Amino acid sequence: MNLILGDSSYDISDAASALINGNLVAFPTETVYGLGASATNSIAVKRIFSVKERPISHPLIVHISSVEMIETWSGTVPEYVFKLAQDFWPGPLTVILNRSEIAGELITGGSKSIGIRVPGHPIAIKLLKKFESLGGLGIAAPSANRFGAVSATAACDVLEEIGHLLSENDRVIDGGRCEIGIESTILDCTGKNPYILRLGAVTETMILKSLNIKKLAKSSSSNQSHPGSLEKHYQPKAKVVLNVQPLEGDGFIAMEGIKTPDGVFRLFSPSNLNLFAKGLYSSFREADKMNLKRIVVIVPEGGDFALAIKERLIKASS
Ligand code: TXA
Ligand code: MG
Repeated sequence: MNLILGDSSYDISDAASALINGNLVAFPTETVYGLGASATNSIAVKRIFSVKERPISHPLIVHISSVEMIETWSGTVPEYVFKLAQDFWPGPLTVILNRSEIAGELITGGSKSIGIRVPGHPIAIKLLKKFESLGGLGIAAPSANRFGAVSATAACDVLEEIGHLLSENDRVIDGGRCEIGIESTILDCTGKNPYILRLGAVTETMILKSLNIKKLAKSSSSNQSHPGSLEKHYQPKAKVVLNVQPLEGDGFIAMEGIKTPDGVFRLFSPSNLNLFAKGLYSSFREADKMNLKRIVVIVPEGGDFALAIKERLIKASS
């Protein structure tokens, strides 16, 4: 059984048809790989939840090819969202909006809102365009990993995580390693003032500048489905410990300038924050392949994007 496709137009058509016919397609985005289904096909969407073993109350992000599709999914889009779309789409920003009728109970986890994103990866855009040309309205796609585990940043990660749960009509498109490596920024835009639910490569500073405002609103704790409400996430099998002196036999992840203590396995030594994010999850996977019991990570410092990395590390170590 060969599930893997490349980026030829034949392969993209095959994947788009698979989606239209109610199958699952894992595809690359610039952040992490997504496990996609036609967002209006409830049987296919249900399979996403069962493959991932994801609680049904946990909403999915709908991916669209351009901002023009946004009003299909939300009837009340604040004006400032169009400015954000202009500045950051296609790209690593998900906006949460009040949902339209089409956005059903299932993809929204029963909530009144919907997450929407135009991804920046050329394969994702080609797939979405083809899918929409065949009548599709959007691809619902969470990260292509088991619930609570480490996101997949390469096609081989997807196959290792969930390959055995896919059927012969499902597909995995190989688009190489994801450029960013951590999930998109999630911005709640259901009110007059937006607020960040999950940090990512589109940073608070960038959002403030785009909207020409001084401050974002404060996150409301009543939104139970938001990503910040999960304490544990992004967890490999090995225990992740932050900012301690590693012991013999531990895995060790730190910026390039930090020396490797004796007797530990240096998993990763990126020279900058972008590379840190890009390789973090694959170095977690590497540790699990080596059957390491513990990974010590020295949390990188320096600006908004470091905070996005730190948010993942805190949940991974929780
Ligand atoms: O970068 C990304 O965003 C990737 C790629 C594939 O696009 N997707 C991704 O999806 O990370 P997922 O399902 O693994 O994480 C999405 C998060 C979840 O924690 C979910 O609770 C939150 O977004 N979310 C989705 N819809 C929401 C909504 N309507 N209100 C609040 N949170 C929502
Ligand atoms: Mg996820």
